[in-house]
Amino acid sequence: MTIKTGVIGHPISHSKSPLIHGYWIKTYFCKGTYEAIDIAPENLKSGIDDLIAQGFAGFNVTVPHKQAIMEYCDTLDDTALAVGAVNTVVIENGRLEGRNTDVFGFIENIRSAERNMGLSWGLENGPALVLGAGGAARAAVYGLIRAGVPKIYIANRTLEKAQELCDFAPGLIEALPWDQKESVLPEINFLANTTALGMIGKDALEIDLSSTHPDALVHDIVYAPLYTDLLRAARDHDLRVLTGIGMLLHQARPAFEAWFDIMPLVTPALEDLVLV
Ligand code: ATR
Repeated sequence: MTIKTGVIGHPISHSKSPLIHGYWIKTYFCKGTYEAIDIAPENLKSGIDDLIAQGFAGFNVTVPHKQAIMEYCDTLDDTALAVGAVNTVVIENGRLEGRNTDVFGFIENIRSAERNMGLSWGLENGPALVLGAGGAARAAVYGLIRAGVPKIYIANRTLEKAQELCDFAPGLIEALPWDQKESVLPEINFLANTTALGMIGKDALEIDLSSTHPDALVHDIVYAPLYTDLLRAARDHDLRVLTGIGMLLHQARPAFEAWFDIMPLVTPALEDLVLV
């Protein structure tokens, strides 16, 4: 039997997910399909019902449906509940289970870099600074808490949104006004941009990294361009850098496993395919 899967969003043509899952379907000789499916917000319920009727095993969920899909899920995993967003749905006997694999993707990308660095760096070794307090930041902050990061600063243009994220772990998280983000750079071990600033077509992310702790790892979830101005500036200051492509690839792995029963690997060939 062919296992039917896909990704829903609006628009959907930009999505890299068909490339990633299509590559794994071929690599692991699976009998399956992965389609890009455009569903407008007003058609979300009927669109999902249609996928259930077609016998889909599940689907990924992207903008703008990651929150709206939650009310149509029969169950939600702990991560989806905590983050308040679903990016993966598993369908079994017509019932929808909503999961969030973005947190896994964010942390696994960092962990794979950590393994490459040997003992010279560890995520738990010091404070982290997260730039932004939107949906991507929620996944990042939740992941960092679960990974055992001892202190998390969140700097955001709208301070109230950063303050709301402090509820995840009161005492462990501190909100910072956007113009004070540089003040904690001398003590941080990890810096992550979770805003869209620096992405092709968006405003630049302006930050002076000159006081950053020399052991810090600088990460940008933006992957177009792969080496953002933030990462270039970090390299100019001899800091370690981690690009955002790994998060995209790693978040796809648990979804593929849920549908096809194989935990696929992220390889340089897959990275090349997605970056073209
Ligand atoms: P996503 O779900 O991708 O994280 P989002 O929820 O719209 O998207 O969040 C975008 C983030 O980028 C927010 O933290 C936003 O700051 P505000 O909360 O103040 O809106 C941040 N952001 C967007 N444009 C920005 C800018 N020009 N300067 C600083 N921060 C910006």
